[in-house]
Amino acid sequence: MEKASLPDGTSSAHTAHMADARPEPEAPRTPTGQYTHGHHPSVLRSHEWRTAENSAGYLLGRLAPGLELLDVGCGPGTITADLGRRVAPGRVVGVDSAAEVVARAAESSDVANVSFQHGDVYALPFDDDSFDVVHAHQVLQHLPDPVAALVEMRRVLRVGGVLGAREGDFGGFMWAPADPVLDRWMELYHQVTARNGAEADAGRHLLRWVRTAGFIQPVMTSSTWTFADPETRSWWGGLWAERVQFSALAEQAVDYGLSDPDELAEIARAFCRWAEDPDATFVIPHGEVLATKGEADPGA
Ligand SMILES: C[S@@+](CC[C@H](N)C(=O)[O-])C[C@H]1O[C@@H](n2cnc3c(N)ncnc32)[C@H](O)[C@@H]1O
Repeated sequence: MEKASLPDGTSSAHTAHMADARPEPEAPRTPTGQYTHGHHPSVLRSHEWRTAENSAGYLLGRLAPGLELLDVGCGPGTITADLGRRVAPGRVVGVDSAAEVVARAAESSDVANVSFQHGDVYALPFDDDSFDVVHAHQVLQHLPDPVAALVEMRRVLRVGGVLGAREGDFGGFMWAPADPVLDRWMELYHQVTARNGAEADAGRHLLRWVRTAGFIQPVMTSSTWTFADPETRSWWGGLWAERVQFSALAEQAVDYGLSDPDELAEIARAFCRWAEDPDATFVIPHGEVLATKGEADPGA
């Protein structure tokens, strides 16, 4: 595979379109990696709660009617649909590598200018310079090569177009009351994602990834989700009690020999305990970056 030099000297094996690429249609462009969460109903319950307001506020000021927008790793597409309403009548496409979640997104969306399709962020099914805005929410943290993904997102963006990327940072999560079993949950999550070649603490690395991929004028901000009232405690604690026992994360934790069903059940009970405590608080920080595609191709 041809390697292309990126602005900071980093090499990527997934940027053949930037350099003098020799076509290698049969060669896989990247190890796609194992997506840690999977799409168990408990995971989708979490993702379907997301809206443009609670998850993409930093991007909203850059949207306008008529802009064409790509949402990469769109999952069940609730954010995609919201973004679609904001740029209508501009075309909005949600792309995800999981065919079943793409089908679900397509079924639930009723926004006329929004469509969904199957696709891999490392090899997006679009021509160069196709969109005014490319958005990714909680996707890069799951990829073994987030810079290669950003280079590919940059390819399909028009010159002057806007990238919006937002990633949580598991190592920065804070909660009360303290519970060693929840500390173990966090350790286990890092162990599983590391085994998958992914970066659970993505929020703090996002600016570097975006700059390395050749974007210009990056602006880094941060924002949080807070769960500290009866309704949100019950929702967050309840869904994690299920996720940690029944989602793909649980399967991988056991398959990799990192945990067992008894420990996962103990973590689930800790989340239920947490949810019932009237003082319980959970805060989730996210890094978010807006950046632009400049005139010059950094690979040229
Ligand atoms: C944490 S979910 C985020 C979904 C959505 N953006 C949201 O915030 O609700 C990550 C999504 O990225 C998708 N994904 C993982 N690897 C991908 C890849 N290589 N190409 C495209 N999508 C990918 C997963 O299938 C999953 O739906």
